[in-house]
Amino acid sequence: MRIYVTEDYNAMSRRVASILAAQVILKPDCVLGLATGSTPVGAYKLLAEGYKKGDLDFSQVRSINLDEYVGLAPTHDQSYRYFMQSNLFDHVNINPDNTNVPNGLAADPAEECRRYNQVIRTLGPIDIQLLGMGHNGHIGFNEPADAFALETNLVNLAESTIQANARFFASADEVPRQAMTMGIQTIMQARKVLVAVSGKDKAAIVKKAFTGPVTPQVPASILQMHPDVILVGDKAALSEL
Ligand code: F6R
Repeated sequence: MRIYVTEDYNAMSRRVASILAAQVILKPDCVLGLATGSTPVGAYKLLAEGYKKGDLDFSQVRSINLDEYVGLAPTHDQSYRYFMQSNLFDHVNINPDNTNVPNGLAADPAEECRRYNQVIRTLGPIDIQLLGMGHNGHIGFNEPADAFALETNLVNLAESTIQANARFFASADEVPRQAMTMGIQTIMQARKVLVAVSGKDKAAIVKKAFTGPVTPQVPASILQMHPDVILVGDKAALSEL
């Protein structure tokens, strides 16, 4: 595992954006595994700037997002599809048909998970999977559990995740209780995994995930078994490593 310690969030974002940009330059038709959340916002902004400057071309890039809330329309401002459009896709020349996020409004979410698995099987393996990390060690919406989930699956969100995400909604009651998430096996099949973390509040879980036992109770701990992981974090997030 390679670890890059940066001064702060902005420097972390620059490093993450550079690694993703390098991937797009080296393999213009690459498959990017993308994440939402507050961590990658700065990196996406820099990628959009790279496109505007003419340094990056996303015309052949394919993307597969990690997850989506069940019940939120793509136009809902807290849906992950909306997040991706407003933070990245609307600002670069990626072909909308080449972007993939589970459909939060699918009538049958279990069937939607199966469809998404098929999409991943057809496009994959993912060249580089960007991940943030939850305070309980979740990656995607793979919450602490008795076993590692394999493929895209329907999950009940942990209470801690609902509370953490409540800041984006009018109240915790409005946070959806279920989500569809790419499974751990799929994440582990990505050729490269890029984990981004920022802030002191992530320091304890970063330590647990990367130096503690590998256990489905800390889903990110499985990344210790991946042959090509890059961890980029600001010094606050990596302070306990
Ligand atoms: C987002 C996702 C989540 C977040 C995690 C960290 O697609 O799958 O696992 O990466 O909850 O969120 P932030 O970046 O907001 O701390």
